[in-house]
Amino acid sequence: MYLICVLGNLIILIIVCLAPKLQTPMYFFLCNLSVLDIIYVSVISPKLLVIMVTEDTSISYSHCLLQLFFYVFCVASEFFLLTTMAYDRYVAICVPLHYIVLMNKWIGSLLAVVSWNLGAINALVYTLLISKLSFSDSQEINHLFCHMMSILKLSCNNSGHIGILIMVNGFILGFICMILIFSSYMYIMASILKIKTTSGRQRAFSRCSSHITIVLFFCLSSLSLNMKAETDHSQEQDKLLSMIYIAVIPMLNPLVYSLRNKDVITALRTIT
Ligand SMILES: *[C@@H]1O[C@H](CO)[C@@H](O)[C@H](O)[C@H]1NC(C)=O
Repeated sequence: MYLICVLGNLIILIIVCLAPKLQTPMYFFLCNLSVLDIIYVSVISPKLLVIMVTEDTSISYSHCLLQLFFYVFCVASEFFLLTTMAYDRYVAICVPLHYIVLMNKWIGSLLAVVSWNLGAINALVYTLLISKLSFSDSQEINHLFCHMMSILKLSCNNSGHIGILIMVNGFILGFICMILIFSSYMYIMASILKIKTTSGRQRAFSRCSSHITIVLFFCLSSLSLNMKAETDHSQEQDKLLSMIYIAVIPMLNPLVYSLRNKDVITALRTIT
């Protein structure tokens, strides 16, 4: 799964770079997602593989903080990028005549830079907060990687307020992004329904269906993993869910986009 994820995302990057027809903001954002996916699985999966092979389940404190930082960075940035992509689809489908003005290269880059930076700031704050806590020498992390909540539980300090801060922050940011994505799609649906011909509707729908699929997977799994209340007996479910999150979701972007998308397939044909 790790290899498929890295290769699949690399292939997307290469196709988009080489195909002149795919030089649009939508596909640049897709590249951004692919880069984030590669970073994200590369911080978590190789360590899991090493653990499986060597059966040495230890992880150093610094490696743990590194995983924590990149996990938060990638998940947060992906959320912001998916929101940006929803806005891009909204402009492309609802106000196509203004697309050049509302979503040009400059605005696209700006939105991408803002997404990455917001993600990085979030990750930095979380990691700094957690690095301030003290931990006793060796502790058992009951998870597949250094997930914030599991580390918070291990700290010797009273870390309840940090847990609440992280929950509230995640909830507010996730909520704002989802509202924005949802309202974009309300407008998109409304304008698709206004189209008279069936083929016109299908064409409009096919221009956003891959994005909807990714958003649904991402939001549902993220909601169930990161935002549900912590209870002890759900730890095993948590691990299973995070397996989906660590390995399956990052693999989906390239699959969904390449198999379901005519533009990518024709681009692939012209390149090869
Ligand atoms: C991310 O998206 C922006 C905006 O479209 C683009 O300019 C940039 O090259 C992309 N970066 C990567 C690494 O794909």
